[in-house]
Amino acid sequence: MTTVLIPGSFDPIHLGHIDVVDQALELFGRVVVGVLVNHEKPSGLFTADERVELAEASLAGRSDVAVRAYGGLAVQAAADAGAEFIVKGLRNPMDFDIEQQMALMNHSTAGVRTVFLPCRPDLGFVSSRFIREIASRHGVVDHLVAAPVAAALTARFGPPSHPSGTTT
Ligand code: PNS
Repeated sequence: MTTVLIPGSFDPIHLGHIDVVDQALELFGRVVVGVLVNHEKPSGLFTADERVELAEASLAGRSDVAVRAYGGLAVQAAADAGAEFIVKGLRNPMDFDIEQQMALMNHSTAGVRTVFLPCRPDLGFVSSRFIREIASRHGVVDHLVAAPVAAALTARFGPPSHPSGTTT
């Protein structure tokens, strides 16, 4: 059994992330989901503790999955988790451009290799950023997240009131 780290902001975790976790479980056997703390992204919604709790709840029922917060480098989180590889899901060529650079940096600086997994085609449009934006404006995102995240978004913003998620 090989352990891999799937790092990210997970603000919040969504079905695209969960699909990548399931793919990695099938291929490698054990997954540690690394939730980045003190992320410098300005548009954070949930605290690190909340993001960890929501990831744990969304992944409940799967054996050989752990969720851990990390505050430093992804390569250090991989070492701490005993992970042989970092795994990242790719939705599109833009993801590849960003992820390839990070993967090469992580290999160059720490010798840690990254394995890219294409996401499920029907989830390729899903992003945490748009989930935050749409939910905060009372759009419908329940079908894109697991039930615990849908409940947390409703608790934060109230029930969805728009039939479509369009925000512009
Ligand atoms: O979900 P995200 O925000 O796209 O995830 C990006 C993340 C958290 C995986 C990446 O920014 C990261 O690994 N940050 C931790 C700090 C680090 O390792 N930086 C060096 C990257 S080459």
